[in-house]
Amino acid sequence: MNSSAEPLLDVRNLSKNFAAVQALKDFSMVVRPGEVVAPAGDNGAGKTTLIKAISGVYKPSSGEIRLRGEPVSFATPQEARDKGIETIYRDSALADNLSIGANIFLGREPMRKAFGFLPVLDRKKMADAAKSTMALLDFHVNRMEAPVSNFSGGQRRAVAIGRAVYWDAQILIMDEPTAALGVPEQRKVISLIHQLKARGRGVIFISHNLQDIFAVSDRIVVLRRGVQAGERKISETTHDEVVKLMVGG
Ligand SMILES: Nc1ncnc2c1ncn2[C@@H]1O[C@H](COP(=O)(O)OP(=O)(O)O)[C@@H](O)[C@H]1O
Ligand SMILES: [Mg+2]
Repeated sequence: MNSSAEPLLDVRNLSKNFAAVQALKDFSMVVRPGEVVAPAGDNGAGKTTLIKAISGVYKPSSGEIRLRGEPVSFATPQEARDKGIETIYRDSALADNLSIGANIFLGREPMRKAFGFLPVLDRKKMADAAKSTMALLDFHVNRMEAPVSNFSGGQRRAVAIGRAVYWDAQILIMDEPTAALGVPEQRKVISLIHQLKARGRGVIFISHNLQDIFAVSDRIVVLRRGVQAGERKISETTHDEVVKLMVGG
């Protein structure tokens, strides 16, 4: 990570109200290429509101979001996705009965012409994309064409990450990506995040687990009742300090 690189994402003075509740107040943070940033805070601190405001689910009440220096505003999550911001939720929406390839192309199926005129699904393109994307992530399954329902939780999360990578997401927002996984699979997801870093992607990593945050993040940005309560490089802070920032006082 180069701390002088131009930010991929620059969130400035973002606020979001729900009627009388101010869930986010004047919140600012940046994400640079190859950087993992962890917004952290207690329940109700505003983490989900923040990522929904960035990913086009909520319209911010005020403030600014810049992508590579350019102000953006998303009416829908699809608009954010089209600009390279992909969100991976805990139960990422995979179609259970379809293969990895079909899931990568879900809603954007590639077509080819059979006999020179008949439009049919380009299964080879889907299979090739599945293979190359999963290889890129150093992720190996025996039966690439099997329905993803056959895969474990960690493998399914890898498919969701693979889909984002295939469509060239520049910023991946991950909400509790290690939740409800066994320890080996948590490690696997964390190693996928290291690979995204190495490929210059920006990652916003949300987790309840400080150990995971410390294992994977470059920077932690603490939220307390919607306000930015402090920012630390992971290499320059401790669990204790972060917990103090989270609870305040
Ligand atoms: N859709 C909503 N309508 C009303 N209040 C909300 C809504 N979403 C979140 N809030 C409130 O905003 C605050 C921040 O919530 P949230 O962003 O979910 O926090 P976190 O994800 O850190 O637990 C909380 O007080 C919560 O009750
Ligand atoms: Mg939340």
